[in-house]
Amino acid sequence: MIKFEGITKVYNDGFRAVDDLSLHVKEGELLVLIGPSGCGKTTTMKMINRLIEPSEGEIVIEGEEISKKDPVELRRNIGYVIQHIGLLPNMTIGENVALVPKLKKWDKDKYMKRVDELLEMVGLDPQIYRNRYPAELSGGQKQRVGVIRALAADPPIILMDEPFSALDPISREQLQDELIKLQEEIKKTIVFVTHDIDEALKIATRICIMKQGKIVQLGDPEHILRHPINEFVRNFIGEERLSKAKFLPSLSEVLVKPVIAGPNRGLAEAVKIMHDRKVDSLLVVDKNEKLLGLVSVWEIQPHYHEEELKLKDIMKEDIPVVQSNQSLIEAIKISSEQRVRFLPVVTDSNQLIGVITRASLVDVMAGKYGDVI
Ligand SMILES: Nc1ncnc2c1ncn2[C@@H]1O[C@H](COP(=O)(O)OP(=O)(O)OP(=O)(O)O)[C@@H](O)[C@H]1O
Ligand SMILES: [Mg+2]
Repeated sequence: MIKFEGITKVYNDGFRAVDDLSLHVKEGELLVLIGPSGCGKTTTMKMINRLIEPSEGEIVIEGEEISKKDPVELRRNIGYVIQHIGLLPNMTIGENVALVPKLKKWDKDKYMKRVDELLEMVGLDPQIYRNRYPAELSGGQKQRVGVIRALAADPPIILMDEPFSALDPISREQLQDELIKLQEEIKKTIVFVTHDIDEALKIATRICIMKQGKIVQLGDPEHILRHPINEFVRNFIGEERLSKAKFLPSLSEVLVKPVIAGPNRGLAEAVKIMHDRKVDSLLVVDKNEKLLGLVSVWEIQPHYHEEELKLKDIMKEDIPVVQSNQSLIEAIKISSEQRVRFLPVVTDSNQLIGVITRASLVDVMAGKYGDVI
């Protein structure tokens, strides 16, 4: 979606604020840029909508080099939210939100409807707030308006530079929650700058940790918590969060013993094993415990009378599995995406080491780790 290719920004005084940065922001993700003050976050972000021009390198959005585009047109297609959102004081909330749609020459009916929809989306009753002026709103309400103003013309990309940092902790939490919900619904590509590691861990699809104009580590929150790449990242995250993260159970802690059978077992034998162990499926493994497939009672039933058939003849071979070095979060994702009730866990040489069942996951999710997850 957005590709930085060897981007460097040297300011007029010779200061190298961004140093040979390459980064691919994927479509639909919420990428958080984080790092100490002065590390180049805002500079990086402002190069996306050409408020700042790079000294070297190229930024490509959906295959097009942005240096070749008209900056004004570019900005109309990129929402932008900043810390002090700068609503226009002599325009009503409705007029503020409708600004870009008007510039894009939308019909009045269409943008009025859009304004109301967006106000409702962030819990501001349009009847009350549409005609108010910015000075008649609280800080948190103004910030909500800033966010929906950036969304108004439905741009595919939204840039947010510390949008919540001036708010009190409660409004801040609320807006973070709303942003997560919004992102799930509208799937925009969002680049979000923050100083606050808790905010980053809460909202990010991926976190990009920067220092002195360079990327130190880029990864999803889970990965960064589990595998901070160096001392700088460890310090940045803080020991307390890291030690909390250690309490996240690993896959191996939620494994249960699989019910298995060899590929040459007959169907009647398989049914007996299932009956004895009170399960409705078997994992088929070879003599080295390598996973071959899965057979459930539903697949056996139509073939039951065919005495010559073995498990290897009817097993499903292409089944979702999780690798033993993947995280619990990844396992949960796979099981919900694939809608399976249990997931075999295999090593990189496909050896079966256990299964995760829905019941074992629920125990973990609902258990004492709930607040950490
Ligand atoms: N116009 C400018 N001329 C010279 N140096 C600049 C200019 N704008 C920013 N810088 C410097 O470039 C560096 C990066 O600035 P930038 O605003 O990108 O940092 P940041 O990571 O967003 O910091 P913060 O967290 O404080 O907002 C800083 O050292 C800053 O002083
Ligand atoms: Mg900044």
